[in-house]
Amino acid sequence: MSYENILSHFDNGITTITINRPSKLNALNRSTIKELHEAFKKAEEERETKVIIVTGSGEKAFVAGADISEFADYSVSQGEQLAAHGQALLFDFVAHLYTPVIAAINGFALGGGLELAMAAHFRVASDNAKMGLPEVSLGVIPGYGGTQRLPQLVGKGRAMELVMTAGMIDANKALEFGLVNHVTTQEELLPLAHKIAGKIMRNSSVAIAAAINAINAGYEEGENGFDTEIIEFGKCFGTADFQEGINAFLAKRKPEFPGL
Ligand code: COA
Repeated sequence: MSYENILSHFDNGITTITINRPSKLNALNRSTIKELHEAFKKAEEERETKVIIVTGSGEKAFVAGADISEFADYSVSQGEQLAAHGQALLFDFVAHLYTPVIAAINGFALGGGLELAMAAHFRVASDNAKMGLPEVSLGVIPGYGGTQRLPQLVGKGRAMELVMTAGMIDANKALEFGLVNHVTTQEELLPLAHKIAGKIMRNSSVAIAAAINAINAGYEEGENGFDTEIIEFGKCFGTADFQEGINAFLAKRKPEFPGL
């Protein structure tokens, strides 16, 4: 499938999705959000994709936010619709994928850019990256899940300060805050993401999907994460991956998971 604003590349179990509007610092306009939805959906549906990496093109930005030029004249109801539509199509969609998603933050991750990175299952950053939710400096608030996911990741007080000041933190501060898991050089960013993806791919994709569901359940309104864990744990016992994992362990060999 060919896209206008993104690139999607599959290699050796990994689909890398690159937001590709470098002249606009990869800002998320409507069609980019739609294309991202399609690319993530396709990767999730392809059984060969074991890990998805999302990154930005160019050396300056992951994503510098939602495309401000598109919503300049929106009304109250259009604003609400923009947030609801975006959350459903991309941000919640990514957070609930069963294929692990790693955000490789290669520069500015602002507003919707940081929200996209936070919707990924975890994040790695290059040392030039800068992150923030500057929406209140425009008279608006984060609308793609940022007011919820930032406090979940860094704690309420830090999130409050970052949002209220519309400030930016650098990669090392983000590491200290637990917003990103690793920081490396620009050149090493994708190799690092691939290395982590390689470790993930050795494991059961079925069990990983179950773990994602159980971890997410703890953050869902009206769901009990412990109950979800019990159900998902039980379901694992009916999978071919579990049989293979146990047989391989007992036979002292490496497992070859069928992914079923
Ligand atoms: N929406 C639309 N266009 C954007 C954008 C966004 N969120 N962020 C950057 N761009 C565009 C700029 O308008 C500019 O386009 P132009 O060359 O056609 O004028 C281009 O990307 C380059 O950005 P520029 O501002 O010239 O780069 P810079 O290095 O001087 O500054 C930033 C970089 C990230 C600090 C600055 O672009 C910025 O503050 N962007 C907006 C961040 C933001 O508020 N995001 C939240 C949106 S809700």
